[in-house]
Amino acid sequence: MCYNCSSEPSAEARPGDRPSRRAVARLLMAGAGLSALAACTPDPAPNATGTISTASGSASPASSPAASGAASPAASASAASPASASATSPAATAPTTTAAAAPPSAAARLPKQYSLTAPASPWVIVNKHRPLKPANYVPADLVQPRVALAVTGEAAQLNRTTAAAAERMFAAAAAGGVTLTLASGYRSYATQTVTYNGWVGSQGRAAADTASARPGYSEHQTGWSFDIGDGGGACSFQPCFAEQPAAVWAKANAHRFGFVVRYPFMQHAITGYFYESWHLRYIGVEAATDMRKRGIATLEQYFGLEAAPGYR
Ligand code: DAL
Ligand code: ZN
Repeated sequence: MCYNCSSEPSAEARPGDRPSRRAVARLLMAGAGLSALAACTPDPAPNATGTISTASGSASPASSPAASGAASPAASASAASPASASATSPAATAPTTTAAAAPPSAAARLPKQYSLTAPASPWVIVNKHRPLKPANYVPADLVQPRVALAVTGEAAQLNRTTAAAAERMFAAAAAGGVTLTLASGYRSYATQTVTYNGWVGSQGRAAADTASARPGYSEHQTGWSFDIGDGGGACSFQPCFAEQPAAVWAKANAHRFGFVVRYPFMQHAITGYFYESWHLRYIGVEAATDMRKRGIATLEQYFGLEAAPGYR
């Protein structure tokens, strides 16, 4: 079974590969529960209110001063080494990949820099080595973007900066004849707990950890990330989504609106997750464009951080 889509180089079968859609369907039919599909799928969000907060506090690359702990892209470039990867993570079967150390001059190209640790910063890095602090963080400025929604409640919300950027991106895609839908946005700590536990219950902890973040470790909780759909659904959250117009368009254009594909193809030794062609992360137009121009695949590499293939 190959998790990654055929438009990309094929990968050999790995013990940790995500099960096929048919296999997942079998799990569901066996009573494993719908939550098996929920790591990046719209969540039931029982407590969702759909409330639109107007509180300020978002970090905007266009207007905010650099928060404490700001770091230049790769300014502290300690090359990430998958050689130190956990044997129980995707990295255990990953090809050797060394994080690129960006040239020192890169930082000078970006007039604004932001914290890599503050959750309200557009550059906050959340991965298996870097949990959210506080773990129960809730963005102060959640809003519902005016885009096509495939979900309701909290999952239809993003932080204010991300929502505005998403509106611009979705409109541009539509102008180009491509439909994007918001398939999963903000997730609270509680929602991520339900989501992750659903994966563990249906597929086991090791497989769950390749696809779903543990509570307190998900970018979705920051409001800076969301998953896209295409309104069709056949390939939603599936490997074949990478070949759909929505994902193809996003991969080529998301940087123009400040987004990156956070978990790229074959970068799981660094990110800790298999390819998610649907998961976009806002870091600002300047940084996203800079990253693309320099051919840097992951935020860990871009900011000179260690690889995070597994939990410590
Ligand atoms: N699917 C991503 C890794 C999450 O659960 O946040
Ligand atoms: Zn996601």
